Amino acid sequence: MTTATPARTAPEDTLSAAMKKGSAIEHEQAEGSAFMSALLDGRMDADGYIAYLQRLRLVYEALESVATTLVDDPIASPIIDPALDRLATIDADLAHWAPGGAPAFSSPVATAYAERITESTWSGAFVAHHYTRYLGDLSGGQAIGRILDRSFHLDGAGISFYAFDEVGKVKPYKDRYRDRLDAIGATLSAADRDRLVDEVRLAFGFNQSLFAELSELHPGR
Ligand code: HEM
Repeated sequence: MTTATPARTAPEDTLSAAMKKGSAIEHEQAEGSAFMSALLDGRMDADGYIAYLQRLRLVYEALESVATTLVDDPIASPIIDPALDRLATIDADLAHWAPGGAPAFSSPVATAYAERITESTWSGAFVAHHYTRYLGDLSGGQAIGRILDRSFHLDGAGISFYAFDEVGKVKPYKDRYRDRLDAIGATLSAADRDRLVDEVRLAFGFNQSLFAELSELHPGR
């Protein structure tokens, strides 16, 4: 994982802008990772995609179980929305890709990532993890879903992870989500905003490490 230097958010930045700006380099690295490139160029095989889904399952299980404990939390509750939940879609997709059952696996990175989510005692950290995955899924994730559909000739099958049927139109939803982040940010001290942006970069680091682990096991064609 890359080690991040601490964020220093500009005082004039809204929280959503600080999160985006503070993780721009990490985002570029994630886009350029070997695993993502292989996936998007149609060079990844089904086993590699199953391994990816299995790791995502651990991460979303953590996110979605912690979310249920934070529904009344003043910092995290504004962004918590069951319409975003991905666990059921991951299970449906795993059933498609591995109808006989997915193979046993162990992922030190996904385990550490999930533990970071479940063991964080500050709900601001949860906001950072929530943003990194769900806003990513609603952004580049939408394009990734379409590319997978084309390259694996799926005709919509096995990619329900990318379909957010219950959120309505994605663009206005993302705008509302950023407004909620900004409202959360307005209640935080500058130090806590920095801390939250640091956690976003850490979350990106976990995703990078996941891609590295996957590339090692499934280099693709
Ligand atoms: C090849 C892989 C990827 C591509 C092509 C991609 C592409 C994009 C694009 C085009 C946007 C901007 C969308 C918009 O402004 O509406 C975006 C936003 C975002 N992506 Fe990615 N992305 C990739 C991987 C990732 C990964 C691995 C993560 C983290 C797990 C991630 C997290 C995010 C987040 C959090 C945003 C929202 C930024 C913001 O507006 O604050 N992306 N992505």
